[in-house]
Amino acid sequence: MIFGAILAGGTGSRMNISDMPKQFLNLGDKPIILHTLEKFLTCPRFDCIYVGVHPDWLTHMRDLVAKHIGQTDKIKLVPGGSDRNSTIFNIIDDIETVFGASDEHIIVTHDAVRPFVTLKMIEENIDAALQHGAVDTVAPAVDTIVCSTDGKQISSIPDRSTMYQGQTPQSFNINLLKSLFADLSETEKQTLTDACKICVVRNHPVYMVEGNSANLKITTISDYKIAQAMVGGKVID
Ligand code: CTP
Repeated sequence: MIFGAILAGGTGSRMNISDMPKQFLNLGDKPIILHTLEKFLTCPRFDCIYVGVHPDWLTHMRDLVAKHIGQTDKIKLVPGGSDRNSTIFNIIDDIETVFGASDEHIIVTHDAVRPFVTLKMIEENIDAALQHGAVDTVAPAVDTIVCSTDGKQISSIPDRSTMYQGQTPQSFNINLLKSLFADLSETEKQTLTDACKICVVRNHPVYMVEGNSANLKITTISDYKIAQAMVGGKVID
């Protein structure tokens, strides 16, 4: 079976303009998370689309789904975890409770705060996850990336042609992801910045599909202003 997993368990501390987590702020005529969820709903291949929501905001999310989408069995809300990967594993736990475990299950994980994901990216993630087991959506780096080990001076400048920016969706065969994660030490788990790193740390290949700069993650107020401009909405100063 094929599952969507929209990750909305964060509080958006870097946005810092509202007590409301950023995924619930309006973008144009509706909250950011609704744009993301509606894009996932355009893909008929999902058996179920999960949303991992911060526990304090589950009722709010339930109300948003009722208001904007209506009655549907296709969407399931579960509480998010203390970090992003815990939110993914909370969703996986529920999938296995409700649908049973299977070597065939695929999960397409996506940041709630990337509302400009396209159906093409979602479809390519599903196809590549079915074939390869682990997938990241990436965009070629446009800026030169500089590395600094002390935060003061540049230590190296990698060849830009080999640099990409990791985005989402990131998609996995669920059993593969679980077994790689179970094999990591607690120290290795601390180094994980995203789910693909679970595979990279254990040298499991991660197939890349094409993202683009429009698939931005709304992290800061400037990102939010850009996103508002992209939907022709009101730009807040
Ligand atoms: N996320 C999640 N569960 C967490 C933390 C983050 O599902 N415990 C989700 C966020 O809701 C977001 C996505 O992961 O959709 C990307 O994370 P990020 O942009 O870092 O979101 P926040 O953690 O909310 O932001 P911040 O780091 O500024 O607090």
